Amino acid sequence: MAGVLVLNGPNLNMLGTREPEIYGSTTLLEIEERCRERAKMLGLELTFLQSNHEGELVTWIQEARSDGVSIIINAGAYTHTSVALQDALQLCDEPIIEVHLSNIFAREEFRHHSYISPLANGIICGFGAHGYLLALDAIAELRGAENKNMQGKA
Ligand code: DQA
Repeated sequence: MAGVLVLNGPNLNMLGTREPEIYGSTTLLEIEERCRERAKMLGLELTFLQSNHEGELVTWIQEARSDGVSIIINAGAYTHTSVALQDALQLCDEPIIEVHLSNIFAREEFRHHSYISPLANGIICGFGAHGYLLALDAIAELRGAENKNMQGKA
């Protein structure tokens, strides 16, 4: 079964109470539960993690790389600051989807730049918690296309 890692950065553990007018009232645990259901439907093996520490996120990306796992990443504020996350993602060969609950382009200018975007197959932002499910659909689609190409080569 194809693996997918959903990685959440700083302050996303506060969802539900954190600025609900921007991020909605769904908690991270509820997002995880919805992702588990969707991943099961799509035949993806899901790992769902959150950390407030940049280095821990880097380590998890490195582990995903060695396990051949796709990545869905909402790096929170590290999106806009972290060369370390970009360097770690640079080494990954599997699909990467960047997710944000809010539409970062409709917010402050410092949120318009992302260190993740140049390495992502696609970016989903502004759809709230539903964005995570859209990202899982995108991973399933990309991996399906990969499998078809492999069969074509066999
Ligand atoms: C966020 C957007 C970031 O700018 C912010 O720092 C976050 C959350 C989002 O999901 O909308 O922590 O990634």
